[in-house]
Amino acid sequence: MTGILNRTDRDIAAAAALLAAGELVAFGTETVYGLGADACNAAAVAAIFEAKGRPRFNPLICHYATEADAFADVEDNDTARRLAEMFWPGPLTMVLPRRATCRVAQLAGAGLATLAVRVPAHPVAARLLQAFGGPIAAPSANRSGHISPTSAAHVLADLGGRIAAVIDSGPCRVGLESSVIDLSGAEPCLLRPGGVNLEAIEAAIGKVRQPPSSPTTSNLRSPGLLESHYAPALTLRTDATSVQRGEALLAFGLPLPDARLLFQLSAARNLNEAAARLFEGLHWLDLNAPGHGLTSIAAMAIPHSGLGRAINDRLTRAAAPRD
Ligand code: TXA
Ligand code: MG
Repeated sequence: MTGILNRTDRDIAAAAALLAAGELVAFGTETVYGLGADACNAAAVAAIFEAKGRPRFNPLICHYATEADAFADVEDNDTARRLAEMFWPGPLTMVLPRRATCRVAQLAGAGLATLAVRVPAHPVAARLLQAFGGPIAAPSANRSGHISPTSAAHVLADLGGRIAAVIDSGPCRVGLESSVIDLSGAEPCLLRPGGVNLEAIEAAIGKVRQPPSSPTTSNLRSPGLLESHYAPALTLRTDATSVQRGEALLAFGLPLPDARLLFQLSAARNLNEAAARLFEGLHWLDLNAPGHGLTSIAAMAIPHSGLGRAINDRLTRAAAPRD
């Protein structure tokens, strides 16, 4: 059963407590309703992908109560501070390098070295962030492939029964997702047009690059289609039934014999736990395998159901021939 909460202080506190317990809570923002989870809790973030039925792990936006909170997790710069001053709180998301001290789960950022951050303006989102006291990861609160919700009724129709609660926050003022701007490179680059228009952004910070339209980037209007994911430095082999010389093991359940180095995704073969640990595991193996003289990863087979599809999508990409 999905609870329907209201805008009272008591209900906002109840929603914050659900988040703290690792549950999913949908809430209104000025753009669209978000499906929120504690961004620092990898299992809770994995549950977002499961509830959405997302076949891939796309990096999610982390929502913060204040600019100072956001810039505590990512490295700010002059352009970012200027944009924050102009458009936060509001429908603008900035992609910036994670700080070494960033507490957000790797899965929330799909294992990338950057993180998308935003300070929303909607009073319900602002109060929830304040009450929760930490970053909330939230994609739009719809099932994968469905349209983004702009009312609590939309959320319930799509995700009712799959999430702990939705806060009825009224209709969304903007009604389409935030603009996403990448400030982690040499020049600002608009990754997704959205709630703050390009002209306003350029008036604030000057020329902004837009990705050239190619078969992969022309899809960027739809959120979540950006093909940037953490690629392990090591080569990877999927569906391994034995560990060969030079291989570290990415285990799922009872490990294959003879592994000199292994990372266990889930001893209990729980797909949610495996999803939550996947990017941590790939980073960890990249870091530790070379010291053991190992050059590649043997990944045990993962069942192709539920979050297993997203895990397999990621592993297949990592296993694909490199340029
Ligand atoms: O308006 C919005 O932005 C809504 C509300 C709930 O805040 N949220 C939203 O989140 O649309 P999501 O997770 O569906 O969209 C995130 C977008 C995707 O296009 C994703 O590829 C991009 O931001 N993104 C996230 N992290 C990124 C990163 N580190 N580098 C590049 N793009 C990133
Ligand atoms: Mg979406």
